[in-house]
Amino acid sequence: MKLDLANRWALVTGASSGIGEEFARQLAARGMHLVLTARREERLFALSRQLQQQHGCQVVLLPLDLARPEDVKQLVERVRQLPQPLHLLVNNAGIGNVATLQETNPGRMLEIVDLNIRAVTDLTYALLPDMVRRNEGGVINVASVAAFQPIAYMSVYAASKAFVLHFSEGLWAELQETNVRMLALCPGTTRTEFFEQAGVENWLTRRSAHNVTTVVKAALESFERKRAICVPGWNNWFASLLHRVFRRAVVVSQTKKIFGAHLEPKPERENSTHA
Ligand SMILES: NC(=O)c1ccc[n+]([C@@H]2O[C@H](COP(=O)([O-])OP(=O)(O)OC[C@H]3O[C@@H](n4cnc5c(N)ncnc54)[C@H](OP(=O)(O)O)[C@@H]3O)[C@@H](O)[C@H]2O)c1
Repeated sequence: MKLDLANRWALVTGASSGIGEEFARQLAARGMHLVLTARREERLFALSRQLQQQHGCQVVLLPLDLARPEDVKQLVERVRQLPQPLHLLVNNAGIGNVATLQETNPGRMLEIVDLNIRAVTDLTYALLPDMVRRNEGGVINVASVAAFQPIAYMSVYAASKAFVLHFSEGLWAELQETNVRMLALCPGTTRTEFFEQAGVENWLTRRSAHNVTTVVKAALESFERKRAICVPGWNNWFASLLHRVFRRAVVVSQTKKIFGAHLEPKPERENSTHA
């Protein structure tokens, strides 16, 4: 029997596009009321109007930058004022970056840490204990297949997703004697704006990729079954096992070949050419 989510509240971070937007759509279709957050207010507004018209759900919009701890605090305060306790937290907002060491902006790396790690940890510890007290609900943390091994040119992102995976699995084990669910969703390449934001627009055109509908459907099925991890697609599942078959050095060297091929050649700087 399907988990009854109707008339419960869910918080979806990063709901203005991609996987987060699709979570909002599928959860609204199952009768949930939603707190939606991301930075692009107009996108959230358009989505919320559509969901309210289609499903008659209540939607609270909060345009926030979750890389800022004070914005995360504001979000938690607003969630605590909902007419009912929060039933589902979807920690989806996340960013990546693909670049050589020389081309990497250190500020962007810290933004990845703040959003992909700090905000996820902060929101989970702020909202999960109440679910445990009520013995219901759960959390879906969006990790990645990148979580299973280090990735060259994407080191901080892969490490941030390894954190999300381990963090979620540890809590999943802690929650075993309760009715509270904890899932790490580990998608492979999925058609969203992620790669454009990460600086490798060409990645999607050259690879087979999943669509967001399939990924979110798989996540909700795994959540219902109280699974710890969901890796949508057999090819991604296979990729997640490579580090168990080959030496870590071999696997990470392979990622260097794959991602290196997608880095745009940068124009030579004028003063670096020798006469
Ligand atoms: N696409 C893939 O192939 C793939 C694979 C594995 C895992 N993932 C993970 O899936 C999650 C969703 O990514 P996506 O693929 O759906 O990419 P996306 O379309 O770029 O969505 C990212 C979402 O995060 C929000 N966001 C970014 N920075 C934010 C900030 N500082 N504060 C609040 N919200 C912020 C964005 O909204 P605003 O810009 O409006 O703030 C957007 O709603 C991420 O955690 C990503 O790591 C993606």
